[in-house]
Amino acid sequence: MNVLLTNIKELLQIREFPVRALSGPEMNDLPTLKNAWLLIEDDRILNFGGMEATPEGSFDQVIDCSGKIVLPSWCDSHTHLVYAGNREQEFVDRINGLSYQEIAEKGGGILNSAKKLQETSEEELFRQSAKRLEEVMSLGTGAIEIKSGYGLTTEAELKMLRVAKRLDQEYPVTVKTTFLGAHAVPKEFKNNKDAYIDLICNEMLPAVAEGKLADYVDVFCEEGYFSVEDTDRILSCAVKFDLIPKIHVNQFNSIGGIAVSIKHNALTVDHLEVLSDDDIKDLQHSDTMAVALPACSFFLGIPYTPGRTLIDAGVPLALATDFNPGSSPTGNMNFVVASACIKMKLTPEEAINAATVNAAYAMGLSETHGSITKGKKANLIITKEIPSYGFLPYSFGSNCIDSVICNGQLL
Ligand code: NIG
Ligand code: FE
Repeated sequence: MNVLLTNIKELLQIREFPVRALSGPEMNDLPTLKNAWLLIEDDRILNFGGMEATPEGSFDQVIDCSGKIVLPSWCDSHTHLVYAGNREQEFVDRINGLSYQEIAEKGGGILNSAKKLQETSEEELFRQSAKRLEEVMSLGTGAIEIKSGYGLTTEAELKMLRVAKRLDQEYPVTVKTTFLGAHAVPKEFKNNKDAYIDLICNEMLPAVAEGKLADYVDVFCEEGYFSVEDTDRILSCAVKFDLIPKIHVNQFNSIGGIAVSIKHNALTVDHLEVLSDDDIKDLQHSDTMAVALPACSFFLGIPYTPGRTLIDAGVPLALATDFNPGSSPTGNMNFVVASACIKMKLTPEEAINAATVNAAYAMGLSETHGSITKGKKANLIITKEIPSYGFLPYSFGSNCIDSVICNGQLL
């Protein structure tokens, strides 16, 4: 199956070879081609070029992109898309003055979602999650990471990861999975967190590995959740199962979680709303990527990750949605890109790089996703007729997407 896109007003993020992580001034460079064509063969980008030399031959489909911009689909490297029910009551509690932490202390928060998930059948969990996945695909997400962490029992954690794997099989989007058993301490282990970590190490991790259910391991390293020592212990167990760390750190407090993540060669450290100078220095001397989640800051009213400072310090930055029922009930990467510009002072070029090339790196997909490169997945966003790519973050509340191609399929 051949599909030719013609008259593309501007083709964004064209790279001759797959690039890995962009940092510093590279993040402000977005290579583009004006008045372009792009040829898809099956699920891959076969070639692209300028309209002065369009390819000859017959094609199964020709899409006229006059006035429209084409870019690689977003990669969303941090989500909790598989969950049961919602938490709009806690949203109202927060409007009335309770903090996120106070709600969690009252048994709400992650434990509230865990209770719902444990009571939900695997089929129903798939149905609810598939609906959300279909929505984010229509918003231009072509690859997504999905975490467990609302199960908190071996059985329920495995159920979540099986659902995420089934989404990967049944939809054209690429799914990467992360085991986040250490998301919160379950009620039954309230006074014996070590016993829960024993369960993670001795039962959950072996079962996840046995079922080949996860690519990554995550820990919520935060006061009131898992300490730096707990994180160290869990990551030391996880490495035996070849699980690479992607860690929730520095959301509310800087407690040393970044240093321990780097010590365990974490691919990414995510959140980073609160950062010390030492944290930034540690990141400067590592291969670990920073991932900012501005929709979470927007929703909870907490500080934004200092993305400008991180980029100026030469730390590679990616953007993700953190789609989850408690702190970011949206999977809209377009909003994330816009809020990175509006609230974190990224340029449109930096934000688009952070949501494509760097986001692909943040989920181990640099070879196949994140740029317009011959041989990469045909995962594309075709915009409506818009004046320029800067219009995408500028018109933050509008849907600028005309259509989406995922794995070579026009959705
Ligand atoms: O990334 N911070 C930890 N985990 C999620 C929120 C979980 C929840 O509130 O349900 C996050 O923000
Ligand atoms: Fe998260």
